[in-house]
Amino acid sequence: MTQESVQLLNHFYLILNQKTGLVLTRNQHGNLKSRLLKLFHEFSINEESLESVLSENPAAYEKILEEVLINESYFFRNEDHFRVLREIIFPVFADKSSFSKEKSLRALSVGCSTGQEPLSILMAFYESPAYKSAGDFHVDAIDLSKQAIVTALKADYNRMQCRGLTSVLKEKYFKPSGTGTLKPDAGLLEKISYVHSNILNHELFEGVYDLIFARNTLIYFDDVNSERVKQKLIRALKPGGYLFLGESEIGWGLGERVQPMKFNQSIIYRKR
Ligand SMILES: C[S@@+](CC[C@H](N)C(=O)[O-])C[C@H]1O[C@@H](n2cnc3c(N)ncnc32)[C@H](O)[C@@H]1O
Repeated sequence: MTQESVQLLNHFYLILNQKTGLVLTRNQHGNLKSRLLKLFHEFSINEESLESVLSENPAAYEKILEEVLINESYFFRNEDHFRVLREIIFPVFADKSSFSKEKSLRALSVGCSTGQEPLSILMAFYESPAYKSAGDFHVDAIDLSKQAIVTALKADYNRMQCRGLTSVLKEKYFKPSGTGTLKPDAGLLEKISYVHSNILNHELFEGVYDLIFARNTLIYFDDVNSERVKQKLIRALKPGGYLFLGESEIGWGLGERVQPMKFNQSIIYRKR
């Protein structure tokens, strides 16, 4: 790689960080650099024009941002989380009357990507023995990638996007669309509200969520922003609510307001 390309990329990382809070250095993978350079070429971006193109050409900015965001997700990713949800957390909520026919539960999926995570949370709910005594359940889901939100709203999953789904769950909650793809039942989709937003600037009310999933998303932040987001998520949890993080995101920046709980291989945080 030429010295100019290195400089151009470093300049881009700086602007991206200022615009979104994202940090790339820890997460650069595979051939991201060459894909970015290809896009810079497509939009005739050089050192001099970089700043103006990113601020004056929204289509170019969006295409480049999408290249950076890794929307990798699959159903029941970290199966242990969903088993704990189904077999332990929902029954505990039911015992404590956190939900009843009158009260509803609310979850948040941060970095929901193309929808597999919020759909898995909902299926874990319906598969839980506690469901029978439960009231309504709603999942708010946000992602910085517009493309991921468009795919989530389309909710038409091909074979690759369906990985993690058992044939029993496919049969129970999905319908074939006729072109080899599967569509979740409307009853599931109407329980999810998708929003295109950056969690760093996204306003969350205090104490409204019973469950927050923020898995494999905080890796995009530097330590300062990661801690800011973690504190924001903890504030948004109800006392007694649970926070699920990705395996590489646990362990620090959470403070005294949550208690780590070990379930098998997974650590899940309960707000005191
Ligand atoms: C690797 S995916 C993880 C998806 C899902 N949580 C899972 O664990 O399967 C990370 C997602 O976080 C989203 N993301 C990254 N930074 C974000 C931010 N600042 N606000 C909201 N979403 C963000 C990305 O667009 C991507 O869809």
